[in-house]
Amino acid sequence: MGFNIGIIGCGSIARFRHAPEYHDNPYVEEIIFYDRNIERSQQLAEEFGGRVAKKLEDLLSDPTIVAISDCSSNEAHHVHTSKALLSGKHVLCEKPLAISVKQAEEISEAERKSGKKLMVDHNQRFTKTHQKAKEILEKKELGEVLTFKTTFGHQGPESWGVTKSNATWFFKKERSHSGVAGDLGIHKIDLIHYLLDDEIEDVHAFHGALDKVDEHGQPIEVCDNVVCALKTKKGRLGTASFSWTYYGAEDNATTIYCQKGVIKIYHHPDAQLIIEMGDGSVIKYEIEQIQTNDNQTSTGVIDAFIDCIVNNEEPPVTSGEAIASLKVVEKILGSN
Ligand SMILES: NC(=O)c1ccc[n+]([C@@H]2O[C@H](COP(=O)([O-])OP(=O)(O)OC[C@H]3O[C@@H](n4cnc5c(N)ncnc54)[C@H](O)[C@@H]3O)[C@@H](O)[C@H]2O)c1
Repeated sequence: MGFNIGIIGCGSIARFRHAPEYHDNPYVEEIIFYDRNIERSQQLAEEFGGRVAKKLEDLLSDPTIVAISDCSSNEAHHVHTSKALLSGKHVLCEKPLAISVKQAEEISEAERKSGKKLMVDHNQRFTKTHQKAKEILEKKELGEVLTFKTTFGHQGPESWGVTKSNATWFFKKERSHSGVAGDLGIHKIDLIHYLLDDEIEDVHAFHGALDKVDEHGQPIEVCDNVVCALKTKKGRLGTASFSWTYYGAEDNATTIYCQKGVIKIYHHPDAQLIIEMGDGSVIKYEIEQIQTNDNQTSTGVIDAFIDCIVNNEEPPVTSGEAIASLKVVEKILGSN
């Protein structure tokens, strides 16, 4: 059994992750690309094989398309993902699900009405190292989690997005909404929810536009840095920092402090997972480097999305989980 896939938005994430991973998936026959900038869809159709839809409506009414990836910029997810669901397509929507919890809940309502599957691309859950950490935590090998510390930072999205310019939508309030909080922070919020089987409830945060400037040389309208203190429903305490101004290598490190030891994730380039036990013993796991902007290996997200359609199962990242993470982002932004 094979079927066709539609991609809305043919910028960087479509090019480096969605299109190559659909191309390699055995169930996918053809990819149909749509972008309001038609040159971008033509370019991806040439690169990966497939067709171009000239209008969104052509994509949504194409009966050969079973599922759609929404890879448009944040402000457009609300319209694209809702329309795609209500046109009878399963949807994999990029994160953040929407630019407000209210809009995200409306998308979730469209999901309910349509009876179609909606998955959100919180891809950090899928790295082999995070999955190994989850397994260790679930088995309670180190006892209960007490505290945690996480960060996600790189040099900023202006060199990543398809326009390669400081005029990027990532820097605009109306389009990005939440700056680095919704761009990088939401990944680690989702990761903490997933690893700890818990939900962040209380937030104290500082955020600011410390260094990035727009195309006019003015400070950007959204935050480029966040630092926060967090408390979960189960009473765990943690800290997190998210940054577009780590002007060195990308930092993806997380530390989970448990009753009997510490789990260090992505602190060391060769040993992605390190367990330090209270008795002084250390276990080092060499698993796999994380996908970064400069290291684009398969995320496994597309395969998981296709599998949930083929096997008629619940998506591994649900809209409810995506909304829970978005609520934390709103608390961060409302915090100062
Ligand atoms: N999961 C991840 O790790 C990850 C990484 C990067 C980006 N993203 C997310 O992916 C989405 C896209 O980001 P990107 O880096 O590819 O940005 P990008 O700027 O490179 O590409 C966005 C594309 O969407 C198109 N687009 C925007 N609005 C549209 C509309 N109304 N109709 C048709 N096309 C439209 C643009 O023309 C552009 O080609 C964002 O939501 C972003 O947060 C996720």
